[in-house]
Amino acid sequence: MSKIFAVIGDPIDHSLSPNIHSAAFRELNLDCSYIAYRIPRGELEEGVEGLKKIKINGFNVTIPHKVEMMKYVDKIDESCSVIGAVNTVSNKDGILKGYNTDMDGFLEPFKKKELPIADTKVLLLGAGGAARAIVAGFAKEKASSITIANRTLDNAIKLAEFSEKIGLNANAIKIEDVKDSAKNYDIIVNATSVGLKNEPSPISLEGINEKTIVYDIVYMPMNTDFIKKAKEENATIIFGYEMLLGQAVRAFEIWHDMEAPYNAMKKALLGGF
Ligand code: ATR
Repeated sequence: MSKIFAVIGDPIDHSLSPNIHSAAFRELNLDCSYIAYRIPRGELEEGVEGLKKIKINGFNVTIPHKVEMMKYVDKIDESCSVIGAVNTVSNKDGILKGYNTDMDGFLEPFKKKELPIADTKVLLLGAGGAARAIVAGFAKEKASSITIANRTLDNAIKLAEFSEKIGLNANAIKIEDVKDSAKNYDIIVNATSVGLKNEPSPISLEGINEKTIVYDIVYMPMNTDFIKKAKEENATIIFGYEMLLGQAVRAFEIWHDMEAPYNAMKKALLGGF
């Protein structure tokens, strides 16, 4: 029987997930479809009931439902209990299981490019939901330490406490106090929303070099000012779309129990820009 998948959220019109997953179905000749379904804030429970009625096989969850979705799944994978949010759901005979692919999606480009994380010094900009999954990723891969720099110091302090709790040495600073210290880090990640509206880079990247890994999780536009500044210093770049692709690949594997067609999915994603 034909299988059906979806992404739920609001806004949802610009989601690239339908393109990426449809390309995978075409590549492997799978009898599946994937739709974008707008569910406004406050209507998640009814929305999920509707999806169960049509016997949805799986769905992705995006803004603003990732945290609230925790209430509506029957089972929770370990990946969501650490992060406290769900972004992928599978449906097996009416039993919904929640996963979070943010961490694996974030780590995937490091694996693909064989860039080691163990024993590195990390500078993380931002302390929101995405930053939390990223901290969990660096803890898992045994980075040596992480400095969390954020506009609101309190949020950075809370995230640093979480980091210490899961075994990664952390300290918190205000983002403007990064000043000229970027060169002291091996990996620098932008997990703020700065760049989405073409804003200037949130920090100076002066003095970094080709060994410094600079990763922006903002994927639209692809070349943010942060990425441009990193290129000027010849740094090793990881683009936001690579994390998005990593997440889609992981979701595909959860739902279909087979290896995802990475190149076909990448082509579809890049075609969306
Ligand atoms: P996400 O789920 O994408 O992580 P979020 O949880 O809303 O989104 O987090 C957004 C992050 O971007 C936060 O770290 C936020 O800083 P605050 O904790 O101070 O709110 C950061 N951010 C958003 N707009 C910013 C701006 N104009 N300058 C600096 N940081 C900004």
